[in-house]
Amino acid sequence: MTRVFSGVKPTGHLTLGNYLGAMRQWAEVDQYRSDALFSVVDLHALTVDHDPARTRRLSRQAATLLLASGLDPRLCTVFVQSHVDEHARLSYVLECVATDGEMRRMIQYREKEARERARGRGVRLSLLTYPVLMAADILAYGADEVPVGDDQKQHVELTRDLAVRFNQRYGHTFVVPRATAPKVAARVMNLQDPTSKMGKSEDSGPGIVYLLDEPDVVRRKVMRAVTDSGHEVVYDREGRPGVANLLEILAACTDGNPESLAAVHQSYGSLKKDTAEAVIEVLRPVRDRHRELCADPGYVEEVLRHGAEKARAMARPTVDTAYRAIGLLPPVTEAEPALNAAR
Ligand code: AMP
Ligand code: TRP
Repeated sequence: MTRVFSGVKPTGHLTLGNYLGAMRQWAEVDQYRSDALFSVVDLHALTVDHDPARTRRLSRQAATLLLASGLDPRLCTVFVQSHVDEHARLSYVLECVATDGEMRRMIQYREKEARERARGRGVRLSLLTYPVLMAADILAYGADEVPVGDDQKQHVELTRDLAVRFNQRYGHTFVVPRATAPKVAARVMNLQDPTSKMGKSEDSGPGIVYLLDEPDVVRRKVMRAVTDSGHEVVYDREGRPGVANLLEILAACTDGNPESLAAVHQSYGSLKKDTAEAVIEVLRPVRDRHRELCADPGYVEEVLRHGAEKARAMARPTVDTAYRAIGLLPPVTEAEPALNAAR
């Protein structure tokens, strides 16, 4: 069976971009057709300035939202990255396969590095090595597919390069994974600045729809979205990015396609109105389930405990194999001293 792995970092409240670009596909498609793991990748949240208490809160909230979005722990594995040591264990070994130049070429690193410097903050070394940890997340489980939004494709490409390189140097160890993205809304843009991604880590803004926003708030944000000059509703990502973004959001929420939706809307006003209502309807069940789950924190904890146990058992053999392959001495275990001595 196809193995799928993906994750979400607890650096801010989850957004409509996370949902349409990734989580919805996980819940509606991936968990049914594959052996899938979904992780709250909390180690990744430590790569930029963070507040420990907020990170803990956001991790719990992200896990709850994964379940609220429809992930079913009987069908897939939901867990917190830091509960499984294998990620960090494998990351170090992969750092010995990756190069410094490769890391510095990553677009996300360059953007975030510039942002941290502009704010007068030092750049954490972990921000540079972050894609290696992400590669470890994926390779530890032998994932064939990694469903992510467009912004993560470069990191999955790097993961492929590292897997191929390791396999060539040290013998076949890793499955070489590939990224998969949804057909529409693989890159949901900020409603106030449709040339930049709707990202949760930015300062809270009127251009970001959060999964837990009240319907009134969603309506206001969508109705105030920046549109382009002109009045005609046409789907043109380059020339009319604001309108194109709304059309893509509407298409994703209604299983339609942006071109035909452009044809049925006469004005920006009617497009915004329909988009707002469609988003509210898509988020309604997620908010409702989130409320129910919050009333039962013991259930979420139990899911995460069991998820981590399953994940550990899956990752351990692959990471052990990588340790042996790269030349690390196996520890002598009491159960099999002779076996180890003979190797
Ligand atoms: P992150 O919030 O960076 O942890 O992302 C979690 C997942 O959501 C990744 O697969 C991202 O590619 C996806 N994602 C985040 N923001 C967006 C967006 N604005 N549009 C589409 N996908 C997104
Ligand atoms: N880097 C991803 C992001 O910012 C999150 C992530 C970490 C991830 N490890 C992963 C996604 C492994 C897919 C697979 O969105």
